[in-house]
Amino acid sequence: MSAQIGVTGLAVMGANLARNLARNGYTVAVHNRSVEKTDALLSAHGDEGDFIRTESLEELVQNLEKPRRVLIMVKAGAPVDAVIDQLVPLLEEDDIVIDAGNSHFEDTRRREAALTEKGLHFVGVGVSGGEEGALLGPSIMPGGSKQSYESLGPMLEKISAKYEGDPCCAWIGTDGAGHFVKMVHNGIEYADMQVIGEAYDLLRSVAGLSPAEQSEIFAQWNTTELASYLIEITSEVLAQVDAETGKPLVDVVVDSAGQKGTGRWTVISGLDLGSPVSAIAESVFARALSSQRDQRAEAQNVFAEAAGTGGSEVPEGFVEDVRQALFASKLVSYAQGLDMLTAAADQYGWDLKLDEIASLWRAGCIIRADLLDDIMRAYQGGDAPKNLLFAPAFARAMAGAVPALRRVVAVAAETGVPVPVFSSSLAYFDALRRGRLPAALTQGLRDYFGAHTYGRIDKPGTFHTQWSGDRSEVAAVDTH
Ligand code: 6PG
Repeated sequence: MSAQIGVTGLAVMGANLARNLARNGYTVAVHNRSVEKTDALLSAHGDEGDFIRTESLEELVQNLEKPRRVLIMVKAGAPVDAVIDQLVPLLEEDDIVIDAGNSHFEDTRRREAALTEKGLHFVGVGVSGGEEGALLGPSIMPGGSKQSYESLGPMLEKISAKYEGDPCCAWIGTDGAGHFVKMVHNGIEYADMQVIGEAYDLLRSVAGLSPAEQSEIFAQWNTTELASYLIEITSEVLAQVDAETGKPLVDVVVDSAGQKGTGRWTVISGLDLGSPVSAIAESVFARALSSQRDQRAEAQNVFAEAAGTGGSEVPEGFVEDVRQALFASKLVSYAQGLDMLTAAADQYGWDLKLDEIASLWRAGCIIRADLLDDIMRAYQGGDAPKNLLFAPAFARAMAGAVPALRRVVAVAAETGVPVPVFSSSLAYFDALRRGRLPAALTQGLRDYFGAHTYGRIDKPGTFHTQWSGDRSEVAAVDTH
């Protein structure tokens, strides 16, 4: 008996993907660098389907039907290259190597080019949904060649999450497109979590609501247009009581947030593409600042007197205002992430379909939310909006929620509660809709000190004012 797919790297994500494949009727050859993990998987779950136990990559490859499919699930970075280097000499033309980890899309582009030269297929696959998703059905974002998707697609679609029967898996685009889209998913995930945190902080610090009380509020919010996995689990985390101290768990957890890098990569890419992903950037910086624990401790002493001056009264309608502020900020971060996808499609020659990408995020992944069905619809048909916020349904939603966002940002500023994503979302919205921006002055300054030139609103061409001469304007060569 030969296996339809091999999985190497049996830490929890790899093991769960292998189990998911086996539970769906595929014969799965499994391998791990240390054989103990392979045996642990097989002794605990070997009866869930057909597994073939292997002790080396050679053995794994020998047990696969052709063209071979080998799925690698190891830590992103050098470990992926190490496995590929060992694997490639064992493979034959048209075999498919799949990297299902959170690899950087540029690494995926490089690996895809190298393996294509050797006559192999390399498919970078974004997988979202955490441990449970990997086992029960993740959202899957495969890149690589269209031809490789013909062989791999049916399997991936079968093990993916389903939204009303539709698989949350579709070919995203060539080379690193799948990993790029997964990276942006994670950037949005960072912003989603940060806005939830900002709402929690305001409800706690301004409205004095305990974690238990907020757990109920978030459960109720989960019945509104905010309905999503992250809001649902926020309610659960806030309800959790620490067994040791009897305190809310959230009060005994160290308040410095970790990160493995995908949010940071999103922002770096956003900067490279000239895409204003400010809400996502603020959410990455918020984690970084939370981790500067020494500076934060000192700042509490240095600025003991500088706390906010807000009144003790809770503004009327505050909880509902916070809910709407959260929604508006969430829309902004999705709009920024999707806008960045449009820029990337242009830069890397990918035909990214935003309606399809939104549809894959409707189930299985961490940012799954009712909203994504509406986002999918906004991009369906010929008349796609330039920016998500311009789609009629979202333009109305923003117009309705922005007054609350303004009030909430003002209260936060007065009371000294940091809301970097709420306030940067508002700034993005205001900058976007403003007729004139002070960028005109920036251009004047650049021209003054560096002869960087400027365009005029009333005629075509590029101009320079002779600042150190008679200050007359001359036509110039464009050095914008
Ligand atoms: C997912 C998650 C997953 C992982 C992130 C967390 O979509 O399933 O995004 O990929 O949980 O890597 O990232 P941080 O550790 O950077 O928060």
